[in-house]
Amino acid sequence: MKIGVIAENPLESLALWAGIVPTPLAQTIVGMWLARTIMVGVKVGVFEALAEKPLTAREVAARCQTDPRATEKLLFALAGAEYLRVAPSVSSCHRQARRQEDQQEGQPGGDTAADEGQENHDNQDHYQLAPVARRWLLSSSPISLRDAVLHQFLDAQFIEHYEEFVVTGRPVEIHATMTPEQWGVYQRGQRSGASLYAPEVARRTPVPKGAREMLDIGGAHGYFSVALCRRHPGLCATILDLPAAVAQSAPLLAREGMGERVTHKAGDALTEDLGVERYDLIFISSLLHHFDAETCCALIKRAAVALRPGGYLVVQEVFRLASPREAGQLGALADLYFAVTSEAGTWSPAEIAGWQREAGLSPRKPIEFLFAPGTGQQSARKPR
Ligand SMILES: C[S@@+](CC[C@H](N)C(=O)[O-])C[C@H]1O[C@@H](n2cnc3c(N)ncnc32)[C@H](O)[C@@H]1O
Repeated sequence: MKIGVIAENPLESLALWAGIVPTPLAQTIVGMWLARTIMVGVKVGVFEALAEKPLTAREVAARCQTDPRATEKLLFALAGAEYLRVAPSVSSCHRQARRQEDQQEGQPGGDTAADEGQENHDNQDHYQLAPVARRWLLSSSPISLRDAVLHQFLDAQFIEHYEEFVVTGRPVEIHATMTPEQWGVYQRGQRSGASLYAPEVARRTPVPKGAREMLDIGGAHGYFSVALCRRHPGLCATILDLPAAVAQSAPLLAREGMGERVTHKAGDALTEDLGVERYDLIFISSLLHHFDAETCCALIKRAAVALRPGGYLVVQEVFRLASPREAGQLGALADLYFAVTSEAGTWSPAEIAGWQREAGLSPRKPIEFLFAPGTGQQSARKPR
């Protein structure tokens, strides 16, 4: 799938076909407007305000403690972007009913100048959620992406560095520079994104029969471990992540109610003692793109030592693809994003399998997820 310029009438289709639509402008300025409008709608809480019933801009502003006129502008934009819809206005129904009553009583009818002035000044349209907003943006939705959208405020700061990266080759070291507040946004955002495909991850991750202990390296929010432990009742998980990540992720994990079965351990995966033949499953998701090849290879070797014979080492990543054509718009743009925000960038399944082989493991065929396009697992088994 990709983001594109879509015609809204036959004339526009013709213009697109003729190649006379200024697509670079549509994809830059309109793309930025759209992104920021949705992000701000989530941040100030307009979607939550509209969760139960349609409201006017003034009512939404009162709930969100925002400026009424500016809120009307935001709601209008979100309706144009098809995240909201305009519901039949209650007050205009009232005014119409009153007009009819006036006419029946032989009075002049019609709105007074004062009424009209008020109507122009104070738009009485009622806004309601479009299905896309109800499904993805409400915090009460089981597949809510609310926190993932809030994460985009952090991404907006990261992508400011694209030009600097291209000129100097230096990425942003996000894990070394974030404030505690940014760590919180980051962890909640990752957790929110994980809900999209955690059930598929739990179903497709290889787990040895009778497995008891797993280590989730760079596991942060711990939701993948939670999903795996729910599917395998005998399994317990330790989530190893940096202290700043654990501080912000602890409430997210507590919310899952897994108790002692899934716990955090604060530490640096590059220096922490992982032990010897201790785990049946070691799971490393979206971590290796932060490290260079030498560091990845060393970490995988230490993980292989920490695995019990017959155990699995599962590396889950957005895979590097061989050509932009194969990667498509999303994969190719994600490749640049990861390069800017990580010390290394994405890795191919073949590169990961190479490190696994060097560590004495037997790599399996890589898999790709249906619910997280571009993301997959490269797993390997430790011989018995
Ligand atoms: C992109 S997030 C992935 C989170 C989670 N595994 C997932 O897939 O949703 C990368 C995580 O790796 C953690 N991390 C980065 N460097 C680390 C290190 N040296 N040791 C342990 N964790 C690290 C970060 O704190 C962050 O939580």
